Amino acid sequence: VIDIRKLYAETGCFTYDPGFTSTASCDSALTYIDGDDGVLLHRGYPIGELAEESSFMEVSYLMLNGELPSKEELETFSYTITRHTMLHEQLMQFYRGFRRDAHPMAIMCGVVGALSAFYHDSTDIADPEHRRISSHRLIAKMPTIAAAAYKYSVGQPFVYPDNSLSYTGNFLRMTFGVPAEPYEVNPVVERALDRIFILHADHEQNASTSTVRLAGSSGANPFACIAAGIACLWGPAHGGANEAALNMLREIGTPDKIPHYIARAKDKNDPFRLMGFGHRVYKNYDPRATVMQKTVREVFESLKVNDPVFEVALQLEEMALNDPYFIEKKLFPNVDFYSGVILSAIGFPTTMFTALFALARTVGWVAQWNEMISDPGQKIGRPRQLYTGPTQRPYVSVDKR
Ligand code: ACO
Repeated sequence: VIDIRKLYAETGCFTYDPGFTSTASCDSALTYIDGDDGVLLHRGYPIGELAEESSFMEVSYLMLNGELPSKEELETFSYTITRHTMLHEQLMQFYRGFRRDAHPMAIMCGVVGALSAFYHDSTDIADPEHRRISSHRLIAKMPTIAAAAYKYSVGQPFVYPDNSLSYTGNFLRMTFGVPAEPYEVNPVVERALDRIFILHADHEQNASTSTVRLAGSSGANPFACIAAGIACLWGPAHGGANEAALNMLREIGTPDKIPHYIARAKDKNDPFRLMGFGHRVYKNYDPRATVMQKTVREVFESLKVNDPVFEVALQLEEMALNDPYFIEKKLFPNVDFYSGVILSAIGFPTTMFTALFALARTVGWVAQWNEMISDPGQKIGRPRQLYTGPTQRPYVSVDKR
């Protein structure tokens, strides 16, 4: 194992690596990816096993604490998270300042950032107990914030948390329920959504997590750091891809149009890309996409839906995977390719897809942020640059220009 810090200290070595394609920005014990073999492990556990056997609360505990919880530890953790699901009433009023048709991600950037104005009792980031409380608050409040962003964007009254429900069941009720009316949580949908949350919980140093770490490296308020992560996640090359992928599949519409879109994706003069395809790290099938594909079938069966978009997705995948361009460039479906099909079947509008991603990724963000702050060797993140501007020149006063 190379000790990167020692190597740097001894050589003072300076690298130019736009996009960080081959530069580690930190060390981390959270998530391991082998992109060539399509392996993803959280604290050593394969993502497929976690998605199949575990729950989002359990994975959250694992990410924050390093080990799977005992039954009692899980109960205590779930209870603690449940206790923090409410938002300050003034924060609920903050929503009303947004335009009625605002994108939920725009609202979430603002509302999560605004949490930093409310919780002054947990912002001493040098104190592990403060960091723990901030982490719990963020994980607990994210479903409430995301559901309220949705309710606001469709002009419906907010539904407050019902803490007798599970983390995911509560989120479904706050999104699709009506205040003071009973809401029956469909267990298949609840399980599918919980699994989607597990699949999105962390993915090592992706753009939004790196953003959270960079923002946090200056000692910034944790809620503000997570708001920065949400802003980064919104982009179509990152978390916005699930929305873009479903829009693309709907635009394709029928399997006979697929060859036209594959040809466009291969044409270097056309900026079009197959959304939900390709990954910076995976040069093999994204293991999360495998679970997603299986989950689509379960949800369709339970809800008795048969959206033709799934058939388009399956045929598109098959055609692309047999096409020399995609084979040569090692482009496979990623986590976003099928997630939109499930979320749409459950009833989420496409604008909510990235908000759901942000909700789940909050666990990874806070775990990574905690790991960074607790590292005694932690430094402010400060990338260098290759300067390409003019060399030094004398100032010329405005009347002589
Ligand atoms: N469709 C067609 N061609 C593609 C695609 C695609 N989806 N993705 C990459 N390529 C091609 C590029 O044109 C490039 O070709 P070239 O070598 O001839 O120039 C080559 O494959 C490598 O692509 P890069 O953009 O250099 O790879 P990078 O690692 O920078 O990008 C990314 C990865 C952003 C995910 C890219 O594959 C992409 O844009 N995919 C579509 C968007 C998407 O699905 N994003 C979700 C990512 S997963 C997540 O964030 C959860």
